[in-house]
Amino acid sequence: MGACAIYVLGFVVLISACLSGICLAQQCNQEGWFGDKCQFQCHCAGNGECSQSGTCSDGCDPQWFGPACQYDVSEYNISGGSESDLSWLTDDDDTTCNTDDLESVTTVLDTPHTLTWVRVVVNSTALLDQCELSYQLKDSDASTPCNDSRSATVDNTTVDISCPTKDVVTHVTLSGSIVRGMCSLYISGGRNVALKQTAYQSQTYNEWYASNAVDGNPGIPDNLASLQSTCSHTHYGLGDSAYWRLVFSIDVDINRFIIYNRREPSRRDCCEKRLVNFTLEVFPSTGQNRQYTYTDPGGPAQQVYTVVPSPQIGFPIKTIFIHVRKNRQNDIVTLCEVYAFGEVVCPPGKFGRQCERDCNCFNQTDTCFVSTGGCPSGCAAGYTGEDCYTRKA
Ligand SMILES: *[C@@H]1O[C@H](CO)[C@@H](O)[C@H](O)[C@H]1NC(C)=O
Ligand SMILES: *[C@@H]1O[C@H](CO)[C@@H](O)[C@H](O)[C@H]1NC(C)=O
Ligand SMILES: *[C@@H]1O[C@H](CO)[C@@H](O)[C@H](O)[C@H]1NC(C)=O
Ligand SMILES: *[C@@H]1O[C@H](CO)[C@@H](O)[C@H](O)[C@H]1NC(C)=O
Ligand SMILES: *[C@@H]1O[C@H](CO)[C@@H](O)[C@H](O)[C@H]1NC(C)=O
Ligand SMILES: *[C@@H]1O[C@H](CO)[C@@H](O)[C@H](O)[C@H]1NC(C)=O
Repeated sequence: MGACAIYVLGFVVLISACLSGICLAQQCNQEGWFGDKCQFQCHCAGNGECSQSGTCSDGCDPQWFGPACQYDVSEYNISGGSESDLSWLTDDDDTTCNTDDLESVTTVLDTPHTLTWVRVVVNSTALLDQCELSYQLKDSDASTPCNDSRSATVDNTTVDISCPTKDVVTHVTLSGSIVRGMCSLYISGGRNVALKQTAYQSQTYNEWYASNAVDGNPGIPDNLASLQSTCSHTHYGLGDSAYWRLVFSIDVDINRFIIYNRREPSRRDCCEKRLVNFTLEVFPSTGQNRQYTYTDPGGPAQQVYTVVPSPQIGFPIKTIFIHVRKNRQNDIVTLCEVYAFGEVVCPPGKFGRQCERDCNCFNQTDTCFVSTGGCPSGCAAGYTGEDCYTRKA
């Protein structure tokens, strides 16, 4: 409730500033958030505050990386081959580097998903373009080289490599000389594109608003005061017509959904089982007759559901619905947080969290990375930086 009210207030302030004729970007005064509508969550190391553009003074929280620390680092284990000490790779430290003569590093994703891009940090600029990326698909033993990869230099020790796959990947392998000077590897799990998007539900029960499920807070288990201010809850007695719906302001690609149930293990009979047998339906913009549906196979209620579409949903997504099947005990949809990890789908030549920026590439017909603005052909003459917007001295 608190977070929601402050969000609405921030929005009103923004609109009134625009109405009075001066439409400046407003400072977001809600702690832990940034952006013109306070719609992005800060992920700074040590829970530090971020600036209005999302930058953190002491870097990102280890689970996050990339522009404004908005990209989820896929967790992985190192598999096979080497007996050597790989702590330099797993210590979240960009300054400890490979000390062995390793020729490749293979990682096993904790939650397999489709691959989009990875970031590699090295200690020698000469190694930045000496990289080969390959992956292993779910249900396959063979490694597939990423033969349509594109890379963009971030700075003198960092390179981003895009390798979009349609199918779910379990292993990611890096090889080539780059491994000799490698210090860190960030495999992007995407950005939470569901956060603060527009949510609706069939009819709201008390103050359990639909928007609570995308407020960035899954609530404290077994704490009713916390849950009722951070979870959504449809009204009783709606039967099969109960739903929760989310509409994205920009079409998105999504590689995985993580759905937090109402976690009340001490009252298991009350609430957790309401989500059993839920269906998740995904639609493109209106006028396109396509759909993706996931149905929970049932069984005991889970506190957290992870849904990984496989293969990737084949269309840009506009809307998602969550329904439950009416049964004797339940016709309520209650959700504590819906994370949708992925990225916006921008028109060619645009990038950014809201597709608000223009690519600034050396080759003007080059498409830059949607997430960073990085250009495979390098930056336009006179420019440098991750997003090619810093003027060269
Ligand atoms: C990179 O780091 C490794 C391990 O710390 C070190 O052996 C190597 O000399 C470093 N290379 C450069 C160019 O600094
Ligand atoms: C990675 O290691 C952790 C801790 O040892 C383990 O819980 C997890 O299941 C492992 N993941 C994979 C994909 O092997
Ligand atoms: C990269 O640039 C930074 C600052 O510009 C400099 O301190 C550092 O030594 C450079 N690193 C390499 C490997 O060139
Ligand atoms: C790239 O790899 C795919 C999948 O292995 C393969 O079908 C395709 O022919 C390859 N393309 C090139 C140019 O090698
Ligand atoms: C979930 O669905 C299965 C069959 O589809 C059914 O047997 C089971 O009773 C349902 N569970 C709940 C809690 O509705
Ligand atoms: C610019 O990029 C386009 C598309 O990637 C490519 O076809 C073209 O050859 C590039 N031009 C130059 C001069 O590199």
